Amino acid sequence: MSSSLDSHTSQTWGGRFSEATDAFVQEFTASCAFDHLLAHYDIQGSKAHATMLTACGILSAEDLQDILRGLDQIDSEIMAGDFTWQVALEDVHMNIEARLTEIIGDAGKRLHTGRSRNDQVATDIRLYLRAAITSIRAQMTRLRSGLIDQAETYAGTVMPGFTHLQVAQPVTFGHHLLAWNEMLVRDDSRLADCADRMNVCPLGSAALAGTSYAIDRHMTAEALGFKGPTENSLDSVSDRDFAIEFTAAAAITMMHLSRMAEEMIIWTSAQFNFVDLPDRFCTGSSIMPQKKNPDVPELIRGKAGRVQGHLVALITLMKGQPLAYNKDNQEDKEPLFDAVRTVHDSLLAFADLIPALTAKPEFMRRAAGLGHPTATDLADYLVRKGVAFRDAHEIVGTAVGMAEAQSVDVAQLSIETLQALCPVIEHDVFDVLTLDGSVAARDHIGGTAPRQVLAAAKRARAALG
Ligand code: ARG
Repeated sequence: MSSSLDSHTSQTWGGRFSEATDAFVQEFTASCAFDHLLAHYDIQGSKAHATMLTACGILSAEDLQDILRGLDQIDSEIMAGDFTWQVALEDVHMNIEARLTEIIGDAGKRLHTGRSRNDQVATDIRLYLRAAITSIRAQMTRLRSGLIDQAETYAGTVMPGFTHLQVAQPVTFGHHLLAWNEMLVRDDSRLADCADRMNVCPLGSAALAGTSYAIDRHMTAEALGFKGPTENSLDSVSDRDFAIEFTAAAAITMMHLSRMAEEMIIWTSAQFNFVDLPDRFCTGSSIMPQKKNPDVPELIRGKAGRVQGHLVALITLMKGQPLAYNKDNQEDKEPLFDAVRTVHDSLLAFADLIPALTAKPEFMRRAAGLGHPTATDLADYLVRKGVAFRDAHEIVGTAVGMAEAQSVDVAQLSIETLQALCPVIEHDVFDVLTLDGSVAARDHIGGTAPRQVLAAAKRARAALG
């Protein structure tokens, strides 16, 4: 029998072809320029597959030894950067297989027994993504831990809380930082969920229908650390919903990082001046010598758009595909790889930055005093003295108007002025009108009182595991 390499084309699948692939088409259809990222996982999958074939009596023990040795060598070559990727060999799978045959001879050609690149690539991406999610979650944990530490440091630091970006009520900076942490808690659980759902092994699904060899799919699944084999071969080789799900989780994470970035950018402006970013996270301007720009947060805000784009690309890629595998799916890799790298690096950057961020409590406090932030506290005070909330709202509205007319804060109105508006008001009103009194009063789970922030930080740390 002539080997495929003796046929009209040099391709592994060239047997039935009578002319060589057009040079441009070869470039156009090749994926090794990017799917080489899967190499290590491809090798792991091949080792598990070959071991299973031997256990099932389909491959000899000698072949297996050669295959394992050859694959290890290739793994090292790739890691050392000594591997020559050939576009003519199309993708990561065929590059590795061809090199294996070069190293160990005919046994290399028997590795592909009972499998297809379709179940192979579906397995590789899962292995890759599983590892990627683990390292992304490690960065997430570092970031959360930094936020929790800082929340404890600033548990009693008063700053303005905003709605509509207008000063609304005073909050503590620690409370604000723990709000960020909560977003990440949900992001992390989405990632964990996604990793768990996709942790099943497509190997053995072969091209689309399964294989006629008496293989043991449980064995390969177990060897690769999957929960078990996938249930349906057609579905296994075609759906990339797990990659879409990951990218959705990554896009949501980036959206959260982008919101944090936006606040840091606002806060570092001279107009706010709430926080200082260390110089090593900023850059200057080539023309304006005074500038210190918050580049890292700005870039993360920008990169959020890119991951959102990847989500749209992937979900659109999938929606028109009939069962089972279609070459469209080769387009899954670049968006997925980029989403992985972007979310990982963005988390890493913030995990480094957050512990180095310093608040400027005096500016925060000054800003919190602008815009009558304790007006709600005055209304609540009146309610506690028996006034109906709607009436209290009205009275405080009048008080705010008077304070505005005098260019003072409502907390600075005299007791006589306040009593003229509502006789139930006594001297103790000034306890609730202060910023510290206001935050201390919100003393329930989820509230901004410093002691609640400390308790919440403790729970958040325990949840980090
Ligand atoms: N490079 C291909 C991909 O990423 C591998 C699977 C190719 N299968 C095929 N039948 N052409 O999707």
